[in-house]
Amino acid sequence: MEIDRSKRVLVTGGAGFIGSELVRQVAALNATVLVVDNLINGRRENLDGLSDEQVRLVFADVRDDKSMAGLMKGVDIVFHLACLGVRHSIHSPHENHAVNATATLELLTAAKEAGVERFVYVSSSEVYGTARWAPMTEEHPTFPLTVYGASKLAGECYARAFHRTYGYPAVVVRPFNTYGPRCHHEGDSGEVIPKFLLRCLAGRPLVVFGDGTQTRDFTYVSDTARGILLAGLADTAVGETINLGSGREIAIKELAREVSSVAGRPDAEVIHEEARPGDVLRLCADATKARQLLGFEPRMTVADGLAMLKQWYISSGQPPEALLEQEIVRNWELDGERINA
Ligand SMILES: NC(=O)c1ccc[n+]([C@@H]2O[C@H](COP(=O)([O-])OP(=O)(O)OC[C@H]3O[C@@H](n4cnc5c(N)ncnc54)[C@H](O)[C@@H]3O)[C@@H](O)[C@H]2O)c1
Repeated sequence: MEIDRSKRVLVTGGAGFIGSELVRQVAALNATVLVVDNLINGRRENLDGLSDEQVRLVFADVRDDKSMAGLMKGVDIVFHLACLGVRHSIHSPHENHAVNATATLELLTAAKEAGVERFVYVSSSEVYGTARWAPMTEEHPTFPLTVYGASKLAGECYARAFHRTYGYPAVVVRPFNTYGPRCHHEGDSGEVIPKFLLRCLAGRPLVVFGDGTQTRDFTYVSDTARGILLAGLADTAVGETINLGSGREIAIKELAREVSSVAGRPDAEVIHEEARPGDVLRLCADATKARQLLGFEPRMTVADGLAMLKQWYISSGQPPEALLEQEIVRNWELDGERINA
């Protein structure tokens, strides 16, 4: 499959963090891009600088079957990223399932009926639960700990089922934790790296949930988006499930030190709070399959990626203190306590 100016690409969740980077990469190939987003966590500004003629944002909900069936007409390839996140699933499990799982089944149905030639389902490393061994190949058991992980797993099972049952050209990718420009510090979308970095830049302590020995495999957003795009292009990826990660594992307490050093505050205070329910303790990708099938190799090191993100915050002109006004510290609780420590 090639993406060029003759192709029409639909990106659900394309106004979000990873989606907007993917839209930029697809637009750079001259295709026409239809972004479907209800802007619950995405932002119009994430698409700033892209031509209106080439990239059209449609304000729609992926749960709206009728609208989605209409939008699929004439589309060549769908990248499905719209979802509600892990912390949202802790306070609102049913809504999380409806968006992440049920809507995926409906979108696959609509795409197949509309003759869409390729459907890339963007899943998550959260489907694995805590690693039983590392690095984790795609054959590692899937025992998600949260409704988010379970609903993402349901979505990927539907995509594989469409391939097995109907021969539908669906692909599943499992990105590991991603960070970079346009990542979320706010509300229940807030992620560890932006929260650490903004707190450092504002001269505030970093908050670690649990003892900080839990590990993650972090990938810079331009790398993750390139992996997703490659999965849509490679014919060998059809019917496959592919990790998108680096194979580098870092404990959250080491990450706190790394962020502090990049931010120029190597002795920043770190506060430990009670662990988050359902927190996965270990994640580390085996990236062999992505390398073999997609030629995918993350390019950015964590140190360089953190420095780039710091620069992005600085050049945004928004003071870290102002951005932190939108932070909820225990952001899986509906009435999440705001700590201004
Ligand atoms: N960020 C990560 O570390 C990470 C890691 C693994 C997998 N992923 C996956 O990547 C994808 C994108 O994640 P992200 O981090 O960019 O999150 P994000 O919240 O920035 O993007 C999701 C987008 O979906 C939109 N959306 C939510 N519900 C919708 C609905 N009902 N209808 C239409 N649009 C809706 C949101 O407004 C948002 O723009 C998700 O599928 C996620 O599971 C992300």
